[in-house]
Amino acid sequence: MCESHFETLLREREIEHERQAPLGRFTTMRVGGPARWLVTPKSQEELSAVVMAARTEGLEVHILGGGANLLVRDEGVDGVVIRTSGMTWCRFEDDGVAGGAGVSFPRLVRESVARGLGGIESLCGIPGTLGGALVMNAGGRFGDLAPHVDWVDTLGDDGAIERLPGTAIAFGYRQSSLAGRVVVGGRLKLSSTDPEPLMSRYREVLTAKEATQPLSARSAGCLFKNPGGQSAGELIDRCGLKGFVVGGARVSEVHANFVVNDGAAKASDVIDLATAVRDRVFDRTKVELELEVKVW
Ligand code: EPU
Repeated sequence: MCESHFETLLREREIEHERQAPLGRFTTMRVGGPARWLVTPKSQEELSAVVMAARTEGLEVHILGGGANLLVRDEGVDGVVIRTSGMTWCRFEDDGVAGGAGVSFPRLVRESVARGLGGIESLCGIPGTLGGALVMNAGGRFGDLAPHVDWVDTLGDDGAIERLPGTAIAFGYRQSSLAGRVVVGGRLKLSSTDPEPLMSRYREVLTAKEATQPLSARSAGCLFKNPGGQSAGELIDRCGLKGFVVGGARVSEVHANFVVNDGAAKASDVIDLATAVRDRVFDRTKVELELEVKVW
């Protein structure tokens, strides 16, 4: 069989890749089938070349950050999955921090606090990468990332970098107009201040989260979005669903909006459980829950 343009590019430029690569290991939920191609570019140039070649070949492209808000189906992904884990440059400045899409978001928050850069100290306990946090507008009860975004670099249609100022991006609840774009990196505006109060706020929020969320379990974080001012977790809890099990997937006893993989869960268990939970909540409360977790 003839080598495709895409394969030639990977081979000639020696870009790290794997075929039929199981994806579960790269997600916090630890479930899901393989990607036809799993590619790990080490630079903006490699990333751009891979995306352009995949597009030319008509291959579907997915970007995999920290795999924290993601459920990969058991069938896997018939296309190209690009890991951002090779793009982890990070630069702290007097009034902010800039970094590649693959920088760990918890690390960014922790180091900003330690350096006395204030603004995102309440966004601790959120897993994933800077790229994912930007696209999803990561946040919670204590605020979100939107007000801190200085600029975001994305790949334009021609493969060149397009720098979008934060003010040109529409941010909403766990969503943004960056969806569907390839984020290469970004910069957050922060203010230089005394690290001590930042550290105590950081600890306070993290302690509260550790007490109310199963942070160390295999889960994808909150499964559903909070519907119009109500807590999805509280609604699910009120329907008596804590501990509800389908196969290896279970509604957490700690926070009912988390589904935990007990070890041997399949993606279909998680999907069946999510459907059952949504149906039960709708029957009892007439509230329709919408998935927050992305499904591939
Ligand atoms: N509650 C219950 N039972 C539960 C869970 C919660 O009764 O099983 C009650 C709590 O007692 C509290 C209320 O519901 O009175 C709200 O709960 P919580 O403070 O845990 O906040 P949440 O609305 O459930 C949101 C975000 C979380 C974020 C927290 C804290 C969503 C869907 N959830 O949860 O985000 O960590 O606030 O900021 O927006 C995520 O996005 O993955 C996520 C975990």
